Amino acid sequence: MEKIRILGISASPRKNGNSHFLLKKALEAAETAARGMISSEIYSISGKTFNPCDACNQCHDRLGYCRQTDDDFGELRDKWFAADAIIYSVPVYHMGVPGQFKIFLDRLGNSVVDSFVSRPLKVIGTIAQGSGISTGQEQTIAFLNSHAIMMGCIPVGSEWPAGYLGSGGWTRVRVDKKALQELYAEGEEDANFTVEAIKIQAKFIVQMTQIIKSGGAQQREMLEKDGGYDFFLRRLDNKPVIPKKPGQA
Ligand SMILES: Cc1cc2nc3c(=O)[nH]c(=O)nc-3n(C[C@H](O)[C@H](O)[C@H](O)COP(=O)(O)O)c2cc1C
Repeated sequence: MEKIRILGISASPRKNGNSHFLLKKALEAAETAARGMISSEIYSISGKTFNPCDACNQCHDRLGYCRQTDDDFGELRDKWFAADAIIYSVPVYHMGVPGQFKIFLDRLGNSVVDSFVSRPLKVIGTIAQGSGISTGQEQTIAFLNSHAIMMGCIPVGSEWPAGYLGSGGWTRVRVDKKALQELYAEGEEDANFTVEAIKIQAKFIVQMTQIIKSGGAQQREMLEKDGGYDFFLRRLDNKPVIPKKPGQA
């Protein structure tokens, strides 16, 4: 089987912080779950610019392509399209995702719907951590799981007792970038629990992606009759998964 392409998105506006640390743990665990079978990349939104959707609605006439091209949105959209699985690692910001990341999701939505990529069948897992202990992690994960479903993807969580919907963590009220890394190195119980949840979740993500890819290959004939799986089938064939731009030959 082809390698599984996992895109890890560190959705924190600051670089190499707690979200990044947990994402690295997830990708290490994915590699452990299927040695030599994983091709992974971390994309940090830190320092990137995502201009907000201004509801011009031109994407509806542009095969999902956003009119705004003078920022970093297109770069991450293309990586998102190409991946078999996505792991979001998110710091909780006011009970939800950071605004910069929400802007990306807003604009990604129409890229998928209007490009007729209605069921890209990516496997998506979410990690969310914050400085408090139960201060928005679960609802942030639930939001991203719901968003995954809306995008025609498959959300995958972790396992009892460490996490159901995904993996959550807290920094014991520390606000520094190295909090979780240091707590984990000290053997602190909650940080350890978070990483254990992540390891299980990463394994499930790999397994589910393998199931989806091999199932897709087996059911190709049926799926080809339904245009909604076009991008998924192109991904299985390692063909480019970006549709032609309006006006492109
Ligand atoms: C604007 C802002 C809002 C925040 N809101 C929350 C919150 O609602 N709940 C929470 O637990 N932590 C909240 N935090 C804390 C961050 O989630 C926490 O510091 C996290 O570890 C940062 O992750 P990072 O190191 O990847 O940037 C907030 C931080 C900022 C800057």
